[in-house]
Amino acid sequence: MMTEVSLSQDGDVLTLQTAKGPLRFHAIWLRDNAIDGATRDASNGQRLITLADLSPETTLSAAEVTGDQLTLTFQPDGHCVTYDVRWLAENAYDRPQPRDAGQLADGVEAWDGALNAAVPTGQYPALVADGTARRDWLSALRRYGFAKLTDLPVEEGNLYKIVDLFGYVRETNYGRHFEVRTEVNPVNLAFTGLGLQAHTDNPYRDPVPSIQVLSCLDNSAAGGENMVVDGFACALRLKAENPEGFDLLAKYTARFSYTGSAGVKLQSRRPMIELDPDGTLRGVRFNSRSIAPLTDIPFDDMQAYYAAYRQLSDIIDDTAMEVIFKLEPGEAFVVDNTRVLHARKGYSGEGSRWLQGCYADKDGVLSTLAALEETA
Ligand code: FE2
Repeated sequence: MMTEVSLSQDGDVLTLQTAKGPLRFHAIWLRDNAIDGATRDASNGQRLITLADLSPETTLSAAEVTGDQLTLTFQPDGHCVTYDVRWLAENAYDRPQPRDAGQLADGVEAWDGALNAAVPTGQYPALVADGTARRDWLSALRRYGFAKLTDLPVEEGNLYKIVDLFGYVRETNYGRHFEVRTEVNPVNLAFTGLGLQAHTDNPYRDPVPSIQVLSCLDNSAAGGENMVVDGFACALRLKAENPEGFDLLAKYTARFSYTGSAGVKLQSRRPMIELDPDGTLRGVRFNSRSIAPLTDIPFDDMQAYYAAYRQLSDIIDDTAMEVIFKLEPGEAFVVDNTRVLHARKGYSGEGSRWLQGCYADKDGVLSTLAALEETA
């Protein structure tokens, strides 16, 4: 089909006819997104101008189509720019943009205990050798917020090899990595043999560590299974059962703190359920051990807020929501700590259990995945 375009009478808007219908673009948007050597660096794609370089009265005076190329003339400066029509269609914003509170981003899927039948898992040697396998594993990590690995070398520090698959370690006051095993004088409940309620790690940090890696080196004690719960699925279930409660947990900031070591006083002020401005679920923070006094909820809403908090806690504790697996030495799992809660079942003193953990950043996961999606 021949590409057809038209300009509005005042030159403010271009309309591009496509097989899926008309797409409108504002003159100022087109001018700001010009792909020419004067506007963007040809090698790295970075913009060379600021908005102050463009007239606030930018309009279009001419539009000419040659094949897939569209050449536009802007006023008042008479600047001419050529666009690829396919690029315009791919970047169009004149489309339905849903704004439902609790909607999920593309490529993200909520899950419950049914996922026990298909725990996303990758074999470490294959993930190293094969870009397609790595892409699929990272895609599962994006979709479900967690993924297992098997066939790692059983050696101290093997968790760094995992992080090398997608990014960089995020060091904290717990170190570059931390050891998870029984200690006589625990400074943190994670190092004892008690079972733990499912939680997200370190909600008292802002930004929170967005990826956690836990790698198993020894697991001969009875029990001690790992459990994960989808915070997004729990939030959506709360919304279905108690929409006002969902709104309260999204609307008000909770507070979290950690002061367990000398010289450390970590504090954050973020909602338990975090939404993007368009309502997309962005994150869940839940950790009964490190929640601080809640002081950002008005008196009149506190009772209902606590009821919603308890209801979310009950949903998280519902065994129908959990996926359980016992890690063997040489196995590990990676969790999106902005979304998926993790827990450990209690274990006995017989035998031993040794895991190493570290944090990393989710933007590295998404960046590596996006690059692999273009090439692998
Ligand atoms: Fe934890």
